[in-house]
Amino acid sequence: MFKVEKQNKIFGRRKGKKLSNLQQKNLDKYLNDFSIFPNDNQNKAKLKKINPYNLFHDLKIMDIRLEIGFGMGDFLFDKALSCPNVGFIGCEIFENGVASLLNKIIKYKISNLRVHFGNCLDLIYNLNFSTLNEIYVLFPDPWPKNKHKKRRFFNENNTLYLCSLLKKNGTINIATDIDEYAAQILGIMEKKKNFDLINSNLFQSKIANTWNFNTKYEKKAIDSGRKTNYLIFKKKYE
Ligand SMILES: C[S@@+](CC[C@H](N)C(=O)[O-])C[C@H]1O[C@@H](n2cnc3c(N)ncnc32)[C@H](O)[C@@H]1O
Repeated sequence: MFKVEKQNKIFGRRKGKKLSNLQQKNLDKYLNDFSIFPNDNQNKAKLKKINPYNLFHDLKIMDIRLEIGFGMGDFLFDKALSCPNVGFIGCEIFENGVASLLNKIIKYKISNLRVHFGNCLDLIYNLNFSTLNEIYVLFPDPWPKNKHKKRRFFNENNTLYLCSLLKKNGTINIATDIDEYAAQILGIMEKKKNFDLINSNLFQSKIANTWNFNTKYEKKAIDSGRKTNYLIFKKKYE
């Protein structure tokens, strides 16, 4: 059913400014405890098939939500804090973002959040199908130059995978301030007969403040006067 084109190359920035001592200490000491794929004895994330319910086994959580490319982790952290009965999983390749989220997880003793510090494709290819209630992809890297567009997260294959991870009635929530990328995503999703576009403000006809996710890139878009396309797709049946 799936054509697995593992384009596992990572294109985004992996590191930014030097981590603080606390961030480095937390990464070294605690990342493994909150990792979706714990490290092997060579200290590398060991990929394997994951049933996300097992990540929150002790909490008996049945509602699990995923964020891809969580950036500095603000959205994911706020959600995990305000919804303790929901399990959140997120992935990010940017070390400073992972370190920043980890600091908050530890400071606020968050137990319903797990992370994958690495390529989101390694995560989505390894999650069990029909297990997630919500997926968020907020401001995916736009790669605006024509020669780089194939680096975009949303393509037929990745989208097919993403859709298969959702349960019936689950939603994919997407934000992008690049109209042309929004149109590309819409084109891909329109072919999926088991999904409905349940809400959108496509091409900036209107901004609904209630949809704001308060992420760093959303704030950047607002500050520079760019409007954001918000698209929500709901899975009607498996
Ligand atoms: C434009 S930023 C948006 C960050 C955040 N969602 C926000 O709205 O502020 C895109 C994020 O996706 C992450 N990213 C890019 N490629 C990725 C990959 N293959 N796996 C995981 N994260 C990735 C980047 O490191 C970056 O933090």
